[in-house]
Amino acid sequence: MIILAIETSCDDTAIAILEISAQGGPASGGKNWKLEILSNIVSSQVKLHAKYGGVFPSLAKREHQKNLPIVFKRALKEAGFGIFNDQFSIFKKKPKIDLIAVTNGPGLEPCLWTGINFAKDLAKKMNLPIVPTNHIEAHILANFIRSNYKLQITNYKNLLPAVCLVVSGGHTQLILAKGLGKYQILGETRDDAAGECFDKVARILGLGYPGGPAIAAAAAKLQITNHKSQIKLPRPMMAQKNYDFSFSGLKTAVLYKYQKSNISAQGGPASGGKTQKSKEYINAMCAEVQQAIIDVLLKKALKAAKDFKAKSVILGGGVTANEELRKQFKEKIEKELPNVKFFVPETKFSTDNAAMVGLAAYFNYLKNPKKKYPDIEAKANLRIDKS
Ligand code: KG4
Ligand code: ZN
Repeated sequence: MIILAIETSCDDTAIAILEISAQGGPASGGKNWKLEILSNIVSSQVKLHAKYGGVFPSLAKREHQKNLPIVFKRALKEAGFGIFNDQFSIFKKKPKIDLIAVTNGPGLEPCLWTGINFAKDLAKKMNLPIVPTNHIEAHILANFIRSNYKLQITNYKNLLPAVCLVVSGGHTQLILAKGLGKYQILGETRDDAAGECFDKVARILGLGYPGGPAIAAAAAKLQITNHKSQIKLPRPMMAQKNYDFSFSGLKTAVLYKYQKSNISAQGGPASGGKTQKSKEYINAMCAEVQQAIIDVLLKKALKAAKDFKAKSVILGGGVTANEELRKQFKEKIEKELPNVKFFVPETKFSTDNAAMVGLAAYFNYLKNPKKKYPDIEAKANLRIDKS
């Protein structure tokens, strides 16, 4: 089956074409299935939003509308489907697509609508079914995509129950997966998401957008110089027995410390007036905030894995591109839960992409191939435990 998948929930316009085949099929016990990525295009709006230090929904929507036809053409061309005219109706070589997948939530509503409307239009012109996809479920399933573009999975049931931690710019959720489509949200952030905390702290420190990669790079410099930091930040809610998170206070703690330090904004890296001292201070602050976020995520995810006797821990979302986080999760799970399997996506499938959307749609399609979705709507607050 060939799936064309569309993702526009935030600031990346992404389209992927996947070829998936199954014997037995994941829905029936996952005997054997193979996935090949024919194309996977992600057009990032980072430069546009960098000016504002965050994503502006109305601006992002306009960009998606502009980018979607361009990204679509590139995806078709890369998949070897040739070029078509602008009405999408006369193809030089008609693509053998069987299904269209589109993210319908959660995400920024105006952005979600651009992808949904594009998908509906295509589905009508090409006479194809559409399957809506939950963005959070897609982040979890991104673990089963490999960039050698060939993946074979046997018996996924050995991984269940799984404790899944999805950490992105918009979400921080701990989820218990009991089967495909069977999810329970154990806990989530009460205010800012972990990625949002990275982004806001980067803005305070003048490091640009998106903040995660910038903070990780600055923190790595501190480790290289082996500098011992005096900066100590709180680990919000880490000692509490629930599975919830809170990151807004961490950002505020950074702001107060930064304002109290003698480093003025003019001396900070944003202005270009970098002094040796300010650079070291910034690097130390980045290392500490990164470690505070990792400590909290790790503690709560491991607690959930132990409490629910998970057979696997599965990470997903943009923040899992963080090298230090990946390393520390791997080491800790190997040490404390040696029988638990640990999954983290390849970094390019950690951040938003449409390949993961296509895979999630495939699983949902297999569960009920005859199901029709006539009225797909954008659902900004769509929950993984509800459809
Ligand atoms: O999943 P994603 O691409 O989009 C959303 O669904 O939100 O996640 C984007 C988030 C941003 O907040 C970004 O700063 C963060 O992922 N991120 C990182 C890293 N790369 C991206 N955070 C920490 N370390 C990274 N290396
Ligand atoms: Zn995402």
